[in-house]
Amino acid sequence: MIPVNEPLLDGNEKTYLLQCIETGWISSEGPFIKKFETEFARRVGRKHAIAVANGTAALDIAIETLGVGLGDEVILPTFTIISCICQIVRSGATPVLIESDPLTWNMDVRQIAAKITSRTKAIVAVHTYGLPVDMDPLLEIAHRHGIKVIEDSSQMHGQIYRGKSCGSFGEISTFSFYPNKLVTTGEGGMVVTDDATLAEKARSFRNLCFQPEKRFVHESLGWNYRMTNMQAALGLAQLERLDEFVARKRALGRRYNELLADTPGIQRPCPRTEYAENIYWVYGLVLDDTIPFDAEEAMRRLATKGIDSRPFFWPMHEQPVFKKNGLFRKDRYPIAERIARRGIYLPSGIALTTDQIERSAQALKEIVA
Ligand SMILES: Cc1ncc(COP(=O)(O)O)c(C=O)c1O
Repeated sequence: MIPVNEPLLDGNEKTYLLQCIETGWISSEGPFIKKFETEFARRVGRKHAIAVANGTAALDIAIETLGVGLGDEVILPTFTIISCICQIVRSGATPVLIESDPLTWNMDVRQIAAKITSRTKAIVAVHTYGLPVDMDPLLEIAHRHGIKVIEDSSQMHGQIYRGKSCGSFGEISTFSFYPNKLVTTGEGGMVVTDDATLAEKARSFRNLCFQPEKRFVHESLGWNYRMTNMQAALGLAQLERLDEFVARKRALGRRYNELLADTPGIQRPCPRTEYAENIYWVYGLVLDDTIPFDAEEAMRRLATKGIDSRPFFWPMHEQPVFKKNGLFRKDRYPIAERIARRGIYLPSGIALTTDQIERSAQALKEIVA
């Protein structure tokens, strides 16, 4: 089976991990945490970085740090991972969803204005699959209404929007370091910001809101969302190779595009927009309506040919967990619904060989022929 993802760990990962074991620094107190945070902040052009347990934790902290709570509304795309919405719902705020752009599969920023009310507290911009959200109009509307922006850059390490790093927009940005990301720590995440007060709050929420003076007396509720020194050691080694990993992803995307250029019945990823070049975090495809089966069946057929693949996200407004709690009962977003049912991604890992790309593309051609 050609795996849908495999990390590349043949840089300084082993050396740095050995240092953790040899020095005994395996908890979140170790020196790699600070190094990884400093290097990561520098790379994305932020003043502060807070390493956390995973990308979902980073989003939980971002939402809590901005003070989102009962009575607030938070705007986010319907086509995203559940991580983006969990803490909004748990805080008692109301999630307000946005339809997808059919070309980039990101939230359609032109539809944000109609959803803003006097209760809108924040917008979560989620860069999806390889192209960033069109941030300029989103930031403009947010500033005009005094709304905070969280940028979920989980899939977008090394990506650039109009000459600026993804992860440098809005009040707070978040990242994931799950093994399918361009920088991995096994499990891990990062919160980044330029605001010292927000950074301090985020650090406190990461560490159970322990207090410097009276450690076990708590003024607020936080989480244990700390990252270990061993994860940070991996992350630092990975970060050293980010430019190379970005180049590999783009080469992978280009090769798939060439191989599938004349294949009828599929929508390939949009290679570029006026504001960014696709980074191909994953190589996603949407089956045309002329193909007589859906994403699930496509994945089954690819598996019989030895090719692993994954479905697209399932929209938030169609999640049973929210429907049964009365959320989104009347919401319809036909573009998100369609790409969820007809979208898959092919093997897209950084370690993928040219031969594996060619075999995956060939299998895809055969199943849609
Ligand atoms: C856009 C986005 N946000 C958040 C997450 C959650 O990250 P994690 O799996 O590290 O919790 C992911 C994971 O893939 C993601 O793609």
